[in-house]
Amino acid sequence: MLANAYGSDVMTDVLSRHRNFGVLEGPVLLFGGPYSNFEATASLFERASLMGITGQRTICTGDVCAYCGNPAETARLVMGSGAHVIAGNCEVSLGERAADCGCGFEDGAACDRFAMEWFRFADEELDDGSRAWMRSLPGIGTFCAYGKRYAVVHGAASAVNRFIWPVMSDSVLCDEIGLIEAALGPVDGVIAGHTGMAFERVVSIGERPVRWINTGAIGLPAHDGDVRTSFAVLTAEGVRFERLDYDHETASAAMRAAGLRAGYDRSLTSGYWPSEDSFPSEMRLGRVA
Ligand SMILES: [Fe+2]
Repeated sequence: MLANAYGSDVMTDVLSRHRNFGVLEGPVLLFGGPYSNFEATASLFERASLMGITGQRTICTGDVCAYCGNPAETARLVMGSGAHVIAGNCEVSLGERAADCGCGFEDGAACDRFAMEWFRFADEELDDGSRAWMRSLPGIGTFCAYGKRYAVVHGAASAVNRFIWPVMSDSVLCDEIGLIEAALGPVDGVIAGHTGMAFERVVSIGERPVRWINTGAIGLPAHDGDVRTSFAVLTAEGVRFERLDYDHETASAAMRAAGLRAGYDRSLTSGYWPSEDSFPSEMRLGRVA
């Protein structure tokens, strides 16, 4: 069994599982957190097609299967897309048939209790092929685009389930970038996920600016009252954050039909998460789904 522990060996084994995604020519679609939300994932790939972005120029930061109602269908959709995918804590836990999601929530927190419901459901729904694919995913990727080199992680380099929030100090980001560069050489930016909140920060590594880009999540809203979810596009001008329209009513109904009524079903229709337990205090709004 894997422990839902921040420091467990499996959760900290990020840097040893590296894959080079090569040189990507043209705009790059960056997304994370499909979270078993089939409607959102299908909508994202439709948007990508409209933008002329192929699977080979698509990067997913992981957590393909989590809160929502269609884990098996969502996994198949992402597997067939040709996207470069990093293992999130959900892929690590589901791939290895762990006892829980390994999200890194504190024991007993609302997010921890809610997670047990969807984790059991996803664990029941996934087939052996999907689990084998999850186990095959790298912990970290690198690619080059527009003359710059990027690393891709799920949470952070020190642990797949470390939350890097936009309010954290520069030193936290610099330490994580330092771990990546010590293992894989200099980068101009890091693409990350796990928190579900889209943001970009620029920190200085010596004299060099390095960007920390969180794509946000496509499978749940960003706890801001907007039911649309988040992804990003990397172009010659830098990173551009976009919102994703999709059929959130159908996705929410699929959750209720599957018996997933802990509150994330309401998130899809309210734009707020069911709990703020996992957020830093300065990011709490005092409002939940
Ligand atoms: Fe995660």
